[in-house]
Amino acid sequence: MKWIIFLNFTEKTLIMLAKNIESALNKQIRIEAESSQTYLSMACWAEVQGLEGIAQFMYTQSDEERAHMLKLVKYVNERGGHAQVTDLKAPKTTYTTFKEMFEELYNHELFVSQSINELVHITFEERDYATHNFLQWYVSEQIEEEATAKSILDKINLIGDDKGGLYLFDRDIQQLTVTSSIAINPK
Ligand SMILES: [Fe+2]
Ligand SMILES: [Fe+2]
Repeated sequence: MKWIIFLNFTEKTLIMLAKNIESALNKQIRIEAESSQTYLSMACWAEVQGLEGIAQFMYTQSDEERAHMLKLVKYVNERGGHAQVTDLKAPKTTYTTFKEMFEELYNHELFVSQSINELVHITFEERDYATHNFLQWYVSEQIEEEATAKSILDKINLIGDDKGGLYLFDRDIQQLTVTSSIAINPK
């Protein structure tokens, strides 16, 4: 009996996250939560502008960021840490143009990639290979998100100020949202 208790204790000790890893993961939880709020705010702006497709795309992005946050929350708690739900920096609520909005989305994704890279670097220094391995999903996800944001920006630059182009773009991006929803919830 004593032997079993000792084994359990050892197991728990082994899986505990180092404090600096735990706080770095908590910082990322906050960044993902802020990303979700930022894209939700972009969705609202697009919706009131009558850009239905862009709004749907942003609502989906917001949901994805929340899923990224929850995945980190679960990981921290399962590894003996405590995920922190904190207050968040308020996103801006209006944009001058939809091009400006997508430029901000792209720059935000670059910022998130940099943050993930720093996080991966810390796990490497700490020799926490389990967290290092866990974070590889985020590394791949950021490659995809950066590529999507970049290709959208390229399209916007092609459209310029053409209203007909914007109409078609709004319709096309709705299709991108459908594809991405299928990818999140494969049935
Ligand atoms: Fe994310
Ligand atoms: Fe993202």
